[in-house]
Amino acid sequence: MARTVGTLFGVLLFVLTLNVIECIYLPGLPASFAKYPPWNACTNATFSFEFRTTRANAALMYTDDNGINDFFQVTLTKGKVELSVKIVDDKDGAVRLSKGSSLNDDQWHRVDIKRNRMETTLVVDGAEDRKVAIGSDFYFGRFNEPNNYVYFGGIPLQYHKSLKSLSLPSVIFEPRFAGYIRNVFYGNCTCRTIRGQFIEGVGVSLEPREVCEVRNPCGAGCVCISTDDQPGCNCQDLECSEGKYASLF
Ligand SMILES: *[C@@H]1O[C@H](CO)[C@@H](O)[C@H](O)[C@H]1NC(C)=O
Ligand SMILES: *[C@@H]1O[C@H](CO)[C@@H](O)[C@H](O)[C@H]1NC(C)=O
Repeated sequence: MARTVGTLFGVLLFVLTLNVIECIYLPGLPASFAKYPPWNACTNATFSFEFRTTRANAALMYTDDNGINDFFQVTLTKGKVELSVKIVDDKDGAVRLSKGSSLNDDQWHRVDIKRNRMETTLVVDGAEDRKVAIGSDFYFGRFNEPNNYVYFGGIPLQYHKSLKSLSLPSVIFEPRFAGYIRNVFYGNCTCRTIRGQFIEGVGVSLEPREVCEVRNPCGAGCVCISTDDQPGCNCQDLECSEGKYASLF
């Protein structure tokens, strides 16, 4: 009996997940972008996502402190992932990291950003680049002032008329991203990794939905991770210890 139920459940699982493989799709049109919640990038925060594209140059992710000083920009540039970060208040405190090659191969690639005070690490498919910024004030944004949203694939066109509200105005020149984004995770200062939910966007297609958004079979305390054919659960103790976030993958 238990076995029959098990088999039935297996079949059901298969049917439910068959059509919900993807995530968000961006068409790469001149106005397209996807908006996600702000990232509370405190001195030990993390952020990660996966992308899939055929274009070699594109805006992947952008967020800032609304034009004051700090920003994070991730682009695909000649097939490599590049991360530009400015956290410290000093004029030339920006650092640029880069990793990977020929990543516009229509396969999934994962990007992890990890902060540890003055050090920033970019991890692309498990390979790291790490840099230290020298300066003062390692907080992203101003304490008690909200930071900007996180944008994928480009930023809203309204910013072209208000460059002053961008901390890295050149972001408007980045080519728009065409392709897929999934598994957006925030290590948001709270010691717990959370899935970021899409808020709104232009040109974004949400069908078929990311598997974890359609059906999350993972219990409390677990994180659901969308893979190509079904949701996976990571139920390790994801609470942080010794000043580090537990790794999701
Ligand atoms: C992360 O923290 C910021 C600031 O507290 C909040 O606005 C945002 O919604 C959080 N992100 C997620 C994915 O919950
Ligand atoms: C990050 O730092 C804050 C403040 O010191 C601390 O409360 C939190 O536990 C730390 N988080 C991680 C993941 O280490």
